Amino acid sequence: MNLKAICTALGAAVLGGGLFSAALLPSRAGAAQDEIKVPQLAGEALAGATLFTRYCASCHGAVAGGTDKGPPLIHRIYEPNHHADFSFVMAARQGVRAHHWKFGNMPPVEGIHDEDVIKIIAFVRAVQKENGIF
Ligand code: HEC
Repeated sequence: MNLKAICTALGAAVLGGGLFSAALLPSRAGAAQDEIKVPQLAGEALAGATLFTRYCASCHGAVAGGTDKGPPLIHRIYEPNHHADFSFVMAARQGVRAHHWKFGNMPPVEGIHDEDVIKIIAFVRAVQKENGIF
């Protein structure tokens, strides 16, 4: 699935509003991704969804359910008390040395600004919340 397909799928889901099943997306990430519910998004979280698609989805999955290149962020490990918002900013700035998983290191994300990451966090937290992560 190329980036455009992900954008189209995510855009359609966002425009559709309300809950949708990620099973409608062309999934390559297995069961977890299929079960993720995306809430109706607005404001920063909506902008964050687009930025997430652009910068993060290739590894973390269209709705952050993970791929074969990176872990799901809709996961208890990444709830706010364990991975505070700042850890997202640091991950994008500096990359992440593999420690929780076996996907290898996350490289620094080229060309992204902290303000973009703030919006991405709003998106990820909204989806985490919708799925009972916190
Ligand atoms: C090239 C693949 C790749 C891309 C692109 C990527 N990540 Fe990651 N990310 C990973 C991998 C792999 C890990 C897991 C590292 C580990 O084993 O703990 C990770 C871990 C993380 C973590 C956990 C950090 C920690 O302190 O443990 C956060 C937060 C994160 N990514 C956010 C993002 C965000 C936000 C983006 C987009 C701006 C992004 N990632 C883009 C591969 C990627």
